[in-house]
Amino acid sequence: MGDEGSVMDESEITRAAGLLRERLDWTPEIMAVLGSGLGFLADAVDEPVSIPFDEIPGLPSAGVAGHQGRYVAGLLEGRRVLVQAGRFHVYEGHPMGVVAAPVRIAAGMGVERLLLTNAAGGINRRFSPGTIMVLEDHLNLMWRGPLVGPVREGEERFPDMSAAYDPEFREVARRVALGLDLELARGVYAAVTGPSYETPAEIRMLAALGADAVGMSTVPEVIAARAAGMRVLAFSLITNLAAGISPTPLSHQEVLEAGREAAGRFEALVRALLTELP
Ligand code: HPA
Repeated sequence: MGDEGSVMDESEITRAAGLLRERLDWTPEIMAVLGSGLGFLADAVDEPVSIPFDEIPGLPSAGVAGHQGRYVAGLLEGRRVLVQAGRFHVYEGHPMGVVAAPVRIAAGMGVERLLLTNAAGGINRRFSPGTIMVLEDHLNLMWRGPLVGPVREGEERFPDMSAAYDPEFREVARRVALGLDLELARGVYAAVTGPSYETPAEIRMLAALGADAVGMSTVPEVIAARAAGMRVLAFSLITNLAAGISPTPLSHQEVLEAGREAAGRFEALVRALLTELP
């Protein structure tokens, strides 16, 4: 593919981290990357400091559907957070180096925890639209990764991925969900490039490979986060049954609607977690 590492090189990441540090003069405890209709949480941040991506050299300003990407730093549930509103996707044509850059910049400024959410299609037959799944593991089927290229300062060349999704964080999530009376599924997330949805044959293949859900994001950020030693927790909102399992054709509309429907429950979970994560 040849695009890895072509954008946001080492010095740009370092400069961007310095820029954020200057603007905040405090270090966020948690970074939250919000997908699937949770973006509005960025507007709930108290004492917000907004840093549009177009102020950061090397980052494109627009993410999905042309929305302005930005960081919003401030307090959420009393916790110092850095929210990434708007995300770069591989299917938009962004190189991995760009998709993972916002997380790398956060790691560069000393953020040690990463919370991610995404929308995904349900492969596991026990899932239905609205199911929230905590990621236990992933399959990187994007056929590339954000670490290809020179090793970056503070990153490992060959990061261990045997517990990419922090076991202690997952246990906290289980407990928090129980307290909220919220059913929390768990499983393996398969990341594909997209943007076409999968064929039924591809879904049968993913099921055979051990995937419970499929989506087009998250894994690049998780790999970069683990290389930088961040602790990671991630959730999928199952917005639809995957192709061939769903009785109807898949549509982005369906994904958005399921996101809206589940937003309240998802928000409660994320807010509770912000309070409870060690
Ligand atoms: N496949 C891939 N990505 C998705 C899906 C899906 O079915 N639903 C939401 N994101």
